[in-house]
Amino acid sequence: MKVAGYPTRTIWPSVDGDAVEIIDQTRLPHAFATVRLATLNDAAHAIRAMLVRGAPLIGATAAWGLWLALRSDPSDSAFNHARATLLATRPTAVNLRWALDRVRAQVVRQPLAERGAAARRLAIEICDEDVALNRGIGAAGLPLIGAIAAHKPPGERVNLLTHCNAGWLATVDVGTATAPIYAAHDAGLPVHVWVDETRPRNQGASLTAWELLNHGVPHTVIVDNAGGHLMQCGQVDLVIVGTDRTTATGDVCNKIGTYLKALAAHDNGVPFYVAAPSPSIDWTLRDGLREIPIEERAAREVTHLTGRLPDGSVTTVAVTPEGSAAANPAFDITPARLVTGLITERGVCPATSSGLRSLFPDRAGL
Ligand code: MRU
Repeated sequence: MKVAGYPTRTIWPSVDGDAVEIIDQTRLPHAFATVRLATLNDAAHAIRAMLVRGAPLIGATAAWGLWLALRSDPSDSAFNHARATLLATRPTAVNLRWALDRVRAQVVRQPLAERGAAARRLAIEICDEDVALNRGIGAAGLPLIGAIAAHKPPGERVNLLTHCNAGWLATVDVGTATAPIYAAHDAGLPVHVWVDETRPRNQGASLTAWELLNHGVPHTVIVDNAGGHLMQCGQVDLVIVGTDRTTATGDVCNKIGTYLKALAAHDNGVPFYVAAPSPSIDWTLRDGLREIPIEERAAREVTHLTGRLPDGSVTTVAVTPEGSAAANPAFDITPARLVTGLITERGVCPATSSGLRSLFPDRAGL
């Protein structure tokens, strides 16, 4: 997507070829800053501290992290250390393990002297592939929005709702949940997006709103608690969210609060779709609630808020009384029965084993 008129990805090899650069997402929307990752530890820190975040981008950064490790030490022990370090950064998004396993499968076959170059080639491949998958999701999801637009009286907009940030900032480019939205907007359909702020880290208010504003997509930021009310009032036509891990049976793990939106959508007959690129499908799991590890993050993300003061400086303030405990589960599970459909790069399918099998006959036997 473009930033200040320039096509920009969230991660790219540095011009000197010696490092990787990322957008520091902890600084958005108040500052656009890039950070150089030159070592394995830089990459692990960027994921852990959420300078990069979003399932596909976590996977892409991990692939680059393996290159950063292997270029200085291509030994098996260095590879195993790098893999373990990256795998421990964030537990929920399966894209992390997917990317690490994909690099391992290719790289360990190579002679030591060629491992660094092979890892670099794969990191580039994973990034380019991510963009292609997301474009596929855009093409697959566009007709869903088009069908709603076709039944609207002239001049009425299609109201979408999304949670967290499953936009281009959460991927290498284009985004997953936002891909059909950008495709619809670019095709001239009158879309408007309700953006859940997504406490505690506010990825909706900070990141999704910034993206949509940049691309000129009409949107309105709402508090997380407003979605159910808007659905009851007929002001939401379609929900599209992302996923950090979807089981082979269609259970969806995504940012905390997604489940409540799915319940409200179900109660109000609002279609609830999940944009699920294949690397975020965990073909080994059948029961999301029991089998997906839910990341617990620091209580401070709940007790404190960061924002911009009128003088432009950014500061952090407490919002709870000192001494109150806070809990911070970062993801929840939406059972497959609440999901209208999965939008994948191969098309849209029901959130069921047979639905997924129909699109991925090559994977679903796992
Ligand atoms: O904690 P985050 O910001 O990494 O969580 C991001 C989400 O929950 C996204 O919806 C998900 O990763 C899909 S991104 C295409």
